[in-house]
Amino acid sequence: MRILAIESSCDETAAAVIKDGRQILSNIIDSQAETHALYGGVVPEIASRGHMQAVVRVTEAALREAECTRNDIDAVAATCAPGLIGAVLVGANFGKALALSLNKPFIPVHHIRGHIAANYLIYPELEPPFLTLVASGGHSLLVMVHGYTDFEIIGGTRDDAAGEAFDKTARVLGAGYPGGPKIDALAQKGDPKKYRLPQSHVKDAPLDFSFSGLKTAVINLVHNAEQKGEEIDRASVAAAFQAAVVETLVPRLGLAVRQTATDNLVCAGGVAANSSLRTALERLAAEQHCKLFLPPPALCGDNAAMIGAQAFYEFQAGHLGHSGQNAYATAEITENICQKNG
Ligand code: KG4
Ligand code: ZN
Repeated sequence: MRILAIESSCDETAAAVIKDGRQILSNIIDSQAETHALYGGVVPEIASRGHMQAVVRVTEAALREAECTRNDIDAVAATCAPGLIGAVLVGANFGKALALSLNKPFIPVHHIRGHIAANYLIYPELEPPFLTLVASGGHSLLVMVHGYTDFEIIGGTRDDAAGEAFDKTARVLGAGYPGGPKIDALAQKGDPKKYRLPQSHVKDAPLDFSFSGLKTAVINLVHNAEQKGEEIDRASVAAAFQAAVVETLVPRLGLAVRQTATDNLVCAGGVAANSSLRTALERLAAEQHCKLFLPPPALCGDNAAMIGAQAFYEFQAGHLGHSGQNAYATAEITENICQKNG
């Protein structure tokens, strides 16, 4: 089965053709990052307009690269939640209309389910059940994946997502946008022990965590230094911040591995591209004797291939979009977005 998938939930307009949920026939990503960098972050209306301009071109490129015509496609999928709503609506509405015009099924996909499914494209042997750490710009969750469309949230952030914390820290340090890769690079040149930054603990919830205190600590550190006229070692602040994020996520993941007695540990989302997190995850998997599934950095960030992978399993579960299918700014990973009201 060939699925044409569209992704437009943030600042990447992407289209891909995926065979049977596992094989990438094409994967086109058109990033608006340079435009948003001028503003220091994603400007929602500019993102929506950018998707509007790019979506046809990107879809045609995906079909061309897959050596397919529209008639060779068996279904059309699109991210329908969560994300910047104006941005999500462009890809979702385009996908739905394309499916209608081709008289083919439309498959709405939850973006975070898609991030997890990126792993199916790289690891043919990976099947649920498994434990996942999802760390993206909008989400930081520990998820037990019981089946391809059966998810249980077992922990997560109480406030900021990991990627959000990276982006805010980068802004405070003047490191640029998008923040994650900039902090990752800057941290290589710093000493993580030079500055002490706090770690969060959520009382009576050992698998939950928080990043807002860490973010505030970085802001205070930089502002205090500025007020005293002191030079701040930006690379060492970046290194200390990155180490604090890794030391927040990885031990909780370790605890979740023991609690769930899982053999398979999956990581997904933009922050999974972080070099220091990847090293720590490899160490954790070796210590806990479990197999680590970690997509290559190019498939950690937003793309449509992952949407096409998850769409195959949503299709198999009978989760098809109806004529009134809507898109949503927020939706839990546990929700079936085909049945969501409104
Ligand atoms: O999954 P994603 O591409 O989009 C969302 O669904 O949010 O994640 C984007 C986030 C951004 O916050 C970005 O700064 C972060 O992932 N990110 C990284 C790295 N590459 C991207 N964070 C840390 N280190 C990286 N190398
Ligand atoms: Zn994403």
